[in-house]
Order: sequence, then C-alpha cells, then structure tokens
Amino acid sequence: MLEQLSELPDDPILGLAAECRSDPNPEKVDLTVGIYMDESGHCPIFKSIARAQEKLIDEELTKAYIPAVGDEAFNIGMRELIFGSDSSALNDGRISSIQTPGGCGALRIGAEVIQSAAPGAKVWVSDPTWPVHIPLLGSVGLNFETYRYYDPETHGVDFSMMLDDLSNAQKGDVVLLHGCCHNPCGADLTMDQWKQLTQLSQQQGFTPMIDLAYQGLGAGLEDDVAGLRFLADNVEEVIVAASCSKNMGLYRERTGIILFQSESSSSARAIASQAKVAARRVYSMPPAHGGILAGLVLSDSKLKEDWIAELDAMCIRINSLRDQLSTHLTAACGRDFDFIRRENGMFSFLGLTSEQAKSLRSEHSVYMLDSSRINVAGINANNIDYFVKSIARVTN
Ligand code: LMR
Repeated sequence: MLEQLSELPDDPILGLAAECRSDPNPEKVDLTVGIYMDESGHCPIFKSIARAQEKLIDEELTKAYIPAVGDEAFNIGMRELIFGSDSSALNDGRISSIQTPGGCGALRIGAEVIQSAAPGAKVWVSDPTWPVHIPLLGSVGLNFETYRYYDPETHGVDFSMMLDDLSNAQKGDVVLLHGCCHNPCGADLTMDQWKQLTQLSQQQGFTPMIDLAYQGLGAGLEDDVAGLRFLADNVEEVIVAASCSKNMGLYRERTGIILFQSESSSSARAIASQAKVAARRVYSMPPAHGGILAGLVLSDSKLKEDWIAELDAMCIRINSLRDQLSTHLTAACGRDFDFIRRENGMFSFLGLTSEQAKSLRSEHSVYMLDSSRINVAGINANNIDYFVKSIARVTN
C-alpha cells in the first residue's frame, strides 16, 4: 500500500537549514529558520529557564502524564502575560486556555475547535503568511481566502488594501493576524491600524485569531501585545495561539498555548472542554517539561524579572542588528535598505529575486529563503561584513 507514495520535497525552511548545516564553507551564513542566535552564532538557553530547570530536577517526583489542559501555573501566567492583569475578560473568567505542543499545536487545536463550531469555515490569511499556516489549519478542513498585506514597493503594510479585502469577511469567518513581528515580512500594524481593524471586526462580526510567536522580540513584552489587547478589550470573541519557542528559548520543548476569549464564562468552559477533547483525539496531552519550566518562571517574581531582562537584551540586540544592516546594506548596494530599521522581530524580506537568493547560496554560502526572508538574529559581528559584501555582489 505505502509503496505508491512518492518522495516529497523538503520543507522550504527546514530543508534549507539542513542544506546549510552540511555546507563545509567556514564562512557560511545561516539566516534560514527563525531561531534567536547570539553574537557567537549560538542559540542560547535563558539563564532563568536553566534555573527553573535545576529547581524542577530537585523537586520533580514523577513522569506520569499531565492533564490535557497542561500545567496550571503556565496557563495562569500566559493568560496574564498576553491579555494583561487588568483584562476584564480575564477577571470575569471569559478566557480559557490549554497548553499545547508548541505554537503549531496551538494553531492546530484552534483549528479543531473552529471546525467543530463552524465546519469548513473560511479563514482569512495575510499575503504573505508563514508557509505552514495553510497546511496546518487546512488539514482540519477549514477553507482559506487571502487578504493583501505586504507591499514590496514600500516594504510596509498596505493597510487600505487590507481593510478593503477584510471588509468582505463575515460573521462566521476567522481572520488570522500576526500579533507582532510578522512572519515572514517583519512589517507590523500600527496602534491606529489595530484600532481600525477592531472597528472592522465589530462591524463585520468576524472572529480574530492571533498568532503570537514573538512576544517580546519586537518592541518589548507589553508593547508587542498592545494591539492585541486593544482588540481583545473591544471584541467579544478572540482566539490566540501563542508560542514560547522564541521568547523563552524553549524551541525543542514544544511549549505553546491556545487561548479563547468568549462572551461568557460558561462559553469559555464549553470551549475549553472542546479543546481538551480535540487534544485527546490528536495527541492526548502536551509534553510536560517546557510548560512546567515556563510556569515556574512566570509564577516566581525573581525568575520572571530575570527572564524579562534577558528577553529585553535579545530584543535590543535584534534592533541594533536592524540598524547596522540598514546602514551597511544601503552604503554597499547603493539602494535603500532603511525599511529593515522600521520592521520588527526576527524577519525581513530583503527584496531580492529568488535567483539572487539562490546565487547567494550557491556562490557565497549565504542561506536565506527563496523569498529573500532573512532571520536578522543570525547576523553577528563576525559575519556582517561578509554578508553585506555577498549581497552587494549579487545585486550590483
Ligand atoms: C520560521 O518561520 O522559521 C519559524 O517559525 C520556524 C518554523 O517552524 O518554520
């Protein structure tokens, strides 16, 4: 039976990362997967997470299953981190959540719950969006429509086109938004645009679903969710799929959460029960380790303070790399790269053709996606000159 299956191409992101790993060139530059790298090109373990891990090793008594809803301290801490302690929905018990295997697991459980409520519902995704969104949500049976988002001419959000397209979204549709640090383009909505989008959601009745994978890596933990919080404070039903891969460095521990804000506490309970049943049929219960570590950090004031300081330092480093790249690329290539400075988070589209991205790989061992998306955090003092020269060579 299985013999008839053909070999599929590698994942466009993970496949390139593997190609880069096997490249023997000592000058190679890996800007493929969205992983935070420090100045030495290493993805660090947060010290606060390492301390939580020591505590866990000392105190852990069992490896028995954890409940489908996940770690309690993690759920409580994440609800507050995302919605804010003064959220009236949070204080009224109108937010329910379950821990999931990473942000992907969160998106998948969100999709399962949407599919139970409205089979085949239409999900509006930005053009472009993270390439896994459509296969991940679509495998559950949801349908898609795209809304215009990124304008390659201005390297920014074309908000009037976005509003124009989303004015066709109806009650029963879901609009998938990137909470901050848009993946792949790095161009985010301004606060004023979040307000206009909130108004449109109220008017049209669609349900916003927010993918929040980079909280804290754009402009800081609070600023990165200011738009999301405004929306949530003014729209009854909101879904958030969040990941702790990047902002706690828990990539391989698969630590995520799906949160549902609904109109009443009884409906929040009903949705949570649906999410638990969906989890049971897909993977049963989440991995414990990452959720417990994140829960320990979020529930201990000293660990939390230290974690925030570490995260802020990463955010500052990314933004300084953005400044350096804008300045050096503009000087070396004779074209304007100032947009890199204006964007947020790990990603930027450099605006190169796919041929140029391929030449960078084959001739210079500089790895970025064919769309010319780079992971800004992969740049450091050792590779920036080589990177800038390579870009200048393929573009001039
Ligand atoms: C990325 O876009 O590079 C990250 O979100 C990692 C992934 O799983 O694709």
